[in-house]
Amino acid sequence: MAFPVHRPRRLRSSEAMRRLVREARLEPSQFVLPLFVCPGEGVRKDISSMPGVAQLSIDNLVREAESCRALGLGGVILFGIPEEKDEFASGAYADSGIAQRAIRALKREVPALLVITDVCNCEYTSHGHCGLIENGVVQNDPSLEWLAKTAVSHARAGADIVAPSDMMDGRVGAIRAALDSSGFVNMPILSYAAKYASVFYGPFREAAESTPQFGDRRGYQMDPSNGREAMREIALDLEEGADMILVKPAMPYLDIVSRARERFEVPIGAYQVSGEFSMILAAARNGWLDLDRAILESLTGIRRAGADFILTYFAKRATELLT
Ligand code: PBG
Repeated sequence: MAFPVHRPRRLRSSEAMRRLVREARLEPSQFVLPLFVCPGEGVRKDISSMPGVAQLSIDNLVREAESCRALGLGGVILFGIPEEKDEFASGAYADSGIAQRAIRALKREVPALLVITDVCNCEYTSHGHCGLIENGVVQNDPSLEWLAKTAVSHARAGADIVAPSDMMDGRVGAIRAALDSSGFVNMPILSYAAKYASVFYGPFREAAESTPQFGDRRGYQMDPSNGREAMREIALDLEEGADMILVKPAMPYLDIVSRARERFEVPIGAYQVSGEFSMILAAARNGWLDLDRAILESLTGIRRAGADFILTYFAKRATELLT
């Protein structure tokens, strides 16, 4: 007894009707804007592969953060580009490091804005890998120490949430222990639990100057073919004390977002990464796609798959479109 009794088109007849029955909704509070902070003053260094995105010195970063707050975004996630890199990622965990200085400035000037910090070594190592190299291989356990120190220094600077993105085994536990023993028992950890070795990070590596000088990240980031393994990574990170988890990239991995949503009762974020951003923008610039509709449809898809919040370079534009 389907047609002619059942006519799903009845509920699509007008925008008012569609609005009423809409399932996945977008709100500015669900968007987190990635920001790149660099040394200097008055610096706005465009990233050629990500039109409209720039490395900002702290003064310009604060201005950008203020506009994010005014728009009502969920927050920002901060990536630092240090003045110098070395084999030991020293700039990542120095209290005077670029990220730490930026966090202090943000919390002083725009206290109401939520500041998430990316905890990783690759922007700070001379070789561009996410940990200590020995015999040409990233060593897991020694790298944990750097990550733990970095997270504690971000906490000390005033970060609201720390987000490890390195994919070393055991890093959430190491960071939780270090935070707790330093008195930061209430600092939430957002773990990039299911992070894939993706080609879609290409433009980010120009933005963060973090391209590996040799090899690739497939020895620590996940194989794009694996879905079950993502559930295992998430379960392990939650056991180690992660408060929230991220799936990254977003669009090619919506099945992972959706499986995680069904299985885990924690907030789930998805990261619409640099390559996803640049791909949409490039098509729009060629006149092949309508940019604004592509932004909203891509973000809606990520929400429909089950993400509670989205890290996206489109955060500000999407907010303008919604309000
Ligand atoms: C690692 C990190 C990367 C991204 C976020 N954190 C790059 C990588 O793993 O190579 C990529 C984000 C993007 O592409 O937008 N610190």
